[in-house]
Amino acid sequence: MSETDSIKQLYDSIQVLEDLSSRDGERELSEEERLRGLNRPLLAWYRENARTLPWRGSKDPYRIWISEIMLQQTRVEAVKPYFRRFLEELPDIESLAKVPEERLLKLWEGLGYYSRAKNLQKCARILMETYGGKMPEEFGEILKLPGIGSYTAGAIASIAFSIPVPAVDGNVLRVTARVLGDRTDIAKPSFKKRIESLLKTTMPQEHPGDFNQALIETGALVCVPNGEPKCLVCPLASLCKAGRDGMYREIPWKAPKRARKKEAFTVLVLEREGQIALRKRPPSGLLASLYELPNEPGRLEEKDLPEAFGFEKGEILSVEPLPEAKHIFSHVEWEMTGYRVRLRQTAGGGLDMFFTEKKNLEGKYPLPNAFSAYRKLIM
Ligand code: ADE
Ligand code: SF4
Repeated sequence: MSETDSIKQLYDSIQVLEDLSSRDGERELSEEERLRGLNRPLLAWYRENARTLPWRGSKDPYRIWISEIMLQQTRVEAVKPYFRRFLEELPDIESLAKVPEERLLKLWEGLGYYSRAKNLQKCARILMETYGGKMPEEFGEILKLPGIGSYTAGAIASIAFSIPVPAVDGNVLRVTARVLGDRTDIAKPSFKKRIESLLKTTMPQEHPGDFNQALIETGALVCVPNGEPKCLVCPLASLCKAGRDGMYREIPWKAPKRARKKEAFTVLVLEREGQIALRKRPPSGLLASLYELPNEPGRLEEKDLPEAFGFEKGEILSVEPLPEAKHIFSHVEWEMTGYRVRLRQTAGGGLDMFFTEKKNLEGKYPLPNAFSAYRKLIM
């Protein structure tokens, strides 16, 4: 038995003991009763406590869609300025369908997970071609669109079209696992399916969009992921098992994470005549189709640079080591070694790279955040 399993079994047996020694003979509420009980206090709390956010207060499915995609892997505070800029330039489905990919990626630069932006555009084009330029007003149809899973489809359907379907994201999984006192690993797809199906039957038929956002908001502001949840001010406290039993540290249960894979790269700030070398990344994989500083796998030494990057030793004017830098993605971590290399005017520079004015890094060519430590050293 793995360590995880045995700890889990220990918790399960504690649960049995707790149930045996139980509380003054009162009948435990069923899961459905518990969740149904949330409806009123949640909506009341939300009306008083909802944050004013740029995408709230409108039922435009386009705004809701864009905001929900941006919010999937990015914090609310970080999303706000991006959302405003994005909507100013691309105010509707048609403009999103038509914008050149480079410009779209530029608007997305810094938000990360660029496949989200590409899927947005793919979606917008399908909406133009197949749905008359409008978001379909049906959960099942929205769910068919690329890059839209049950969470996003639920959010759009409930907030924009008042369709009573749940929108279960990480916040909702954490809050409901705690309310139900459920020690399942919330990363398991089966847990999400179960919560979705429970909420579908228990959530209110009126104001489903507010209900979904209220659950998310409670998760963001009260039943927080890091640190102690604020059970003393929580609108759900009277119904919450974890709050009552002080089990919020063990719930949500999370299986221990695998260590991120580390990858070493050597990155060049490669200059020639005041211009800087860039390269376009391959069309699939991490940071697909984005521009990057030339880099090659491994921690290369100065003497290895000409061969690795395809220029002649004689073409080099100077080489200067740069500080090491790190960038953490969800599944890998880049450990970067850097050099500033100045080439002679006549040097070609190999391996698909091209030279451009430094100022183009501000405008024309989106350089992912992974390179920010070196980008800072360019201007
Ligand atoms: N996170 C995901 N969706 C959200 C929303 N609609 N409001 C606030 N935070 C969110
Ligand atoms: Fe979370 Fe505490 Fe509220 Fe339960 S009572 S939902 S653990 S904040």
